[in-house]
Amino acid sequence: EDAEKSGYDHYMLKEIHEQPSSLRQCLRGRIDELEGTVDLPELEAIDHDGPIQFVACGTSYHAALFGAERLRTSGVDAHAFLASEYASDRVPVDEDTLVVGVTQSGETADTLRALREADRAGATTLAVTNTVASSAARECDHTLYIRAGPEIGVAATKTFASQQLALALLAFELGDEPTRGELEALRDIPGQVQTVLETTDARAVAETFVDADAYFFVGRGYHYPVALEGALKMKEITYRHAEGFAAGELKHGPLALVTERTPVFAVVTGDGETARKTIGNVKEVEARDAPVVAITDGTSDVARYADHVLEIPAVDDLGASVLANVQLQLVAYWVANLLGRSIDKPRNLAKSVTVE
Ligand code: G6P
Repeated sequence: EDAEKSGYDHYMLKEIHEQPSSLRQCLRGRIDELEGTVDLPELEAIDHDGPIQFVACGTSYHAALFGAERLRTSGVDAHAFLASEYASDRVPVDEDTLVVGVTQSGETADTLRALREADRAGATTLAVTNTVASSAARECDHTLYIRAGPEIGVAATKTFASQQLALALLAFELGDEPTRGELEALRDIPGQVQTVLETTDARAVAETFVDADAYFFVGRGYHYPVALEGALKMKEITYRHAEGFAAGELKHGPLALVTERTPVFAVVTGDGETARKTIGNVKEVEARDAPVVAITDGTSDVARYADHVLEIPAVDDLGASVLANVQLQLVAYWVANLLGRSIDKPRNLAKSVTVE
């Protein structure tokens, strides 16, 4: 087993460090920069211009939120649903709908159930999965593989990043054609993840806050799913209280929880409207004496209001959400490591949940 961890103490850390290569694998042969096109032959048969619904659980749901938002920027009617709530939400679905199941394992019972219901209603189904010949891949009309390679750690890391990139590719296939700049931006993400891995201060931040009462994560737009995922990673492997919020929702309740013992991790990139608004929220928590950790590319002045900065390369918001998430994976990993937790096999959790 030690040999399989390639010198890392845990599979999770190994898998975090595999992200540059797993992301390259996700993109390989799928971007034609000369032609300026995305090439996904497995999706060519999908002729769809109706609504798109994503169904997923856990980390994959956070990727689904990201994918739906990405498609909406191309004007596509796309929404993400928790697979376990899909039926009771009474989501309208018919033969004009494309239902996309995002599932690393391809075996999650809630997600399979939602996909089967969609199929019964006449929808076209697509599995976005890591697992060849999984139930989702076999049952859906179409399959897009994220090609992340096997993930052993129960807490999903590299598969989330690969889901993000696969869904960005999907958006070019189903939404607007990519520009050359957008294709270059996608191609550059693996190398930028490598930069984050080589320069991160996540371990020092984890050491500073290992005794915190709770950990809060905030973001807007593409960074909202990252806030949710940062909190989920922290809960899963540290057993500490962690919550992710849309930054604008802080003032509608969560602010009551904020103290000098609850660090707030804020993802702020670029210096546009989204960043400005989140910086406003950062000031609100700073005024309540909460320590602020900014995950930022340094283009705004958020560092002025932060106690710690986790820096990422300056890229567009889509790429930044991949990079910011890597920083948060590492913070969760190091807090769990300092607490001596069972990182690869957290208590009460399973890699794949095959009951509803
Ligand atoms: C379990 C795992 C999570 C995962 C979720 C969905 O709860 O512990 O890490 O995100 O299932 O799994 P899936 O295979 O459908 O992506």
